[in-house]
Amino acid sequence: MTDFMATGESHRRTPPMNRRVVDRQTPRELSAIGHGGKYRVCVIVGTRPEAIKMAPVILELAQHRHVIDTMVVTTAQHREMLSQALDAFGIKPHVDLGLMSAKQALADFTARAMLALSSCFAETRPDLVLVQGDTTTVLCAALAAHYLGIPVGHVEAGLRSGNLRNPFPEELNRRLASVVADLHFAPTETARENLLREGIPDDRIVVTGNTIVDALRRMPRKASFDDPRLNALPWEKRRFVLCTVHRRENLGEPLANICRALGELASMHTDTHFVFPVHLNPHVRDVVFDELSGMPRVELLDPLGYADLLELLRRSEFAMTDSGGIQEECPSLGKPVLILRKNTERPEVVASGFGRVVGTETLSIVDSATLLLDDVREIEKMTAGENPFGDGMAAPRIVQTIMRRAPKHAGGLPVPEGPALLPTRRAVEP
Ligand code: UD1
Repeated sequence: MTDFMATGESHRRTPPMNRRVVDRQTPRELSAIGHGGKYRVCVIVGTRPEAIKMAPVILELAQHRHVIDTMVVTTAQHREMLSQALDAFGIKPHVDLGLMSAKQALADFTARAMLALSSCFAETRPDLVLVQGDTTTVLCAALAAHYLGIPVGHVEAGLRSGNLRNPFPEELNRRLASVVADLHFAPTETARENLLREGIPDDRIVVTGNTIVDALRRMPRKASFDDPRLNALPWEKRRFVLCTVHRRENLGEPLANICRALGELASMHTDTHFVFPVHLNPHVRDVVFDELSGMPRVELLDPLGYADLLELLRRSEFAMTDSGGIQEECPSLGKPVLILRKNTERPEVVASGFGRVVGTETLSIVDSATLLLDDVREIEKMTAGENPFGDGMAAPRIVQTIMRRAPKHAGGLPVPEGPALLPTRRAVEP
């Protein structure tokens, strides 16, 4: 099971529930094989950010394959963007539930994911289900595991914006995941405090740092890009700014405002290129390409591989984004970030100086970016602080905690002094 990095032959049988099996075994076969006396950890990934932030955890779990049976399951809430992210780390999922549909509605995806994940867990009977972040995949996996009495570990627990509509539906997803989870891996002390405030017992929270720091440290610098359009840019002659927008609450008018701001900035600052890898969501692409196609010095690209994205950020003056992950990557790479949202659940990025919340109004975005482009001291001011997201050792901390707290009977894990935290494996509903 832990050989997920090996290239296996695709399974030929048509599995149930629209499931695409990309490795050698179906959940039913895995169930028949059993756990082999090992502690089975099922890692769930659905979207690009989950893949990037879970990758270091998956690779760390693999280091303990003598006692942990790691099973990587993807809902494929994202198809191309998820594969691209997993490929960057050489990870192949054991089970691909293949649930993405064109212009998927939240209720539709939620219903399908609940059913598919429940059936997958019932068949494979993991000892622990591990989820990351705040997507619909996270909500469904946590709930499906809970219904079956399977303990849940939540990576990147405790982020809060305090507004259920912003970000939507992520604030709701992560709050519900916290209610369900047995183990909470908080990336920062602030996240831990949020969880404590909601009544989560202290002994179920571990502050680990954010696994994104682990992930980006695995990506070496690149002399050239995989994407030929990036290689063709005049790196020696111009300055560059990375732009991304995809959040649901920014779709429509806010996204159009952001695009207008980018257009104005590109015409005002003729020495600067604005590089915009555009999310595959058609609601994003339609607006962005309508507003910005053909605009000089605005480079509209397809989603980039993770190594290319990081190299682009390293070469940029700063980023303008509504992405959570890029808000964390910027301090990790010493870059300022202008946050194209009304709020952030990552107050650490603002407190450390690296981030400014600039909203989605055209004027405010143009002014904030111009300040940085006109005065290099502003950039120096923003980047003088410390990275608040940890030391790149989050994944080993998470895996050590799982090993320490696994119940003794689960098989062979060295159980340390003190009470085992996770409940022993409960009966799984038929
Ligand atoms: C999802 C997450 C969001 C996360 C974001 C990262 C939810 C509710 N939202 O938002 O928290 O920040 O992923 O990207 O879970 N599409 C493709 N190919 C892909 C990916 C997406 O075609 O590889 C299209 C599909 O048509 C899909 C649409 O994009 O219907 C939107 O994807 P969806 O997963 O519903 O929401 P995101 O906006 O990507």
